[in-house]
Amino acid sequence: MPGTDAQAHGGKMKNPFHLKPLPLSVPFCDREKEMSDLMRYAGNFTNVVLSSPRRYGKTSLIKRVQDNLAKHGTLTIYIDYFGISSIDEFSARFAGAVYSVVYKEKSLFEKAAKVFTSLRPIMRPDPETGMAFTVEVAKSKPGGQLLEETLKGFGEFLKSGKISCNVTFDEFQEITELKESKFIEGTLRSYMQDHQNVSYFFVGSRRRILMDMFNDKKRPFYKSAINYVLPALPVEDTAKYLAGLFCANGKNCPLPVAAGIHTLTEGYPYYIQKLSYFIFEASKGTVTEASLHDGFQQMLLEETPLFELMLQALRPRQIALLHAIAKEATKAPFATAYLTRHRLGSLGGVQAAIKKLPEMDYLEKTSAGWKVVDPIFAHWLRQKEAME
Ligand SMILES: Nc1ncnc2c1ncn2[C@@H]1O[C@H](COP(=O)(O)OP(=O)(O)OP(=O)(O)O)[C@@H](O)[C@H]1O
Ligand SMILES: [Mg+2]
Repeated sequence: MPGTDAQAHGGKMKNPFHLKPLPLSVPFCDREKEMSDLMRYAGNFTNVVLSSPRRYGKTSLIKRVQDNLAKHGTLTIYIDYFGISSIDEFSARFAGAVYSVVYKEKSLFEKAAKVFTSLRPIMRPDPETGMAFTVEVAKSKPGGQLLEETLKGFGEFLKSGKISCNVTFDEFQEITELKESKFIEGTLRSYMQDHQNVSYFFVGSRRRILMDMFNDKKRPFYKSAINYVLPALPVEDTAKYLAGLFCANGKNCPLPVAAGIHTLTEGYPYYIQKLSYFIFEASKGTVTEASLHDGFQQMLLEETPLFELMLQALRPRQIALLHAIAKEATKAPFATAYLTRHRLGSLGGVQAAIKKLPEMDYLEKTSAGWKVVDPIFAHWLRQKEAME
């Protein structure tokens, strides 16, 4: 990331835009309805699958929802399963998240330690949460026994204190990478339905994989949670939010220009922040249409290595199909005229490519037809093709 900030502008104005999940302390754009819906579901102990494309604000939103729930007396447990590499780690991260929430309350901490007998907590100070816990597997258990014990123990923990609780599994689709994933799904589902006074939120961005877990009749999680899709941010709120942040940090961004940021990014939260970040860096007093377009080009340049990497993971046929759909979204990618127009080769090749790309969340099928999920990636693909 280019040099943040402030010094470049006289040491006073700090760039207010964020490229990471938003800390609780900074302004948040909209999501009022989503906040209240999710609060209500948690209050009803309803399970929810929260999905969206990557970097749409799921984690930022969930952190706020949990913060609010905690203020209303709910015990909120947040577990990120990103990069999970073994079934025991599932239990260890689970218990670690419980410990890190209850450690301040002696009686709850003791209850947790009593039910997670095989999982010993190791504390270390954490700047964000005060204290972080990793968990050591104290007694090695065969196969999935540790998971069963952990989930059974958690049920007892919930019962013992009549605690109302929300458990959020972030990047939940990652468990499908484990060889024991079927067992985890089945076990979790069977214990979950006996757990009282708790809502489980399953969050993820590999939507096809996550959706298949919950919408496939043959899978344990079938119909066990409400599907909740996080949409793009709305234009009016975004424009006000951005104009406000520019203004609070010493720059004037007229509302129509702020709305232009939304248009260029199609309301994609990560890109709204990123484009605004570059525009803030480059503009002097007032943000103009010209600085908006300069910022956009800079953002494309900055994203290029990542987009290149995304392409490197693909076969030539898949790349050709991505280029075609970026250029011309379509309801009929198999139509002969479309195949010919975009030189896509055989029907069979396209059929295979179109299977893989939604799994990776590069392409999605909407009521309007097939489109590239990430609008900036689509723009980059079009620009790249035009230059070749
Ligand atoms: N409501 C919002 N207002 C302003 N910016 C937001 C909002 N929601 C998300 N963002 C911005 O979008 C970016 C992505 O947010 P976040 O990491 O929460 O998304 P995510 O959906 O969890 O992403 P991933 O799929 O990578 O896990 C962050 O840079 C954040 O600043
Ligand atoms: Mg996230």
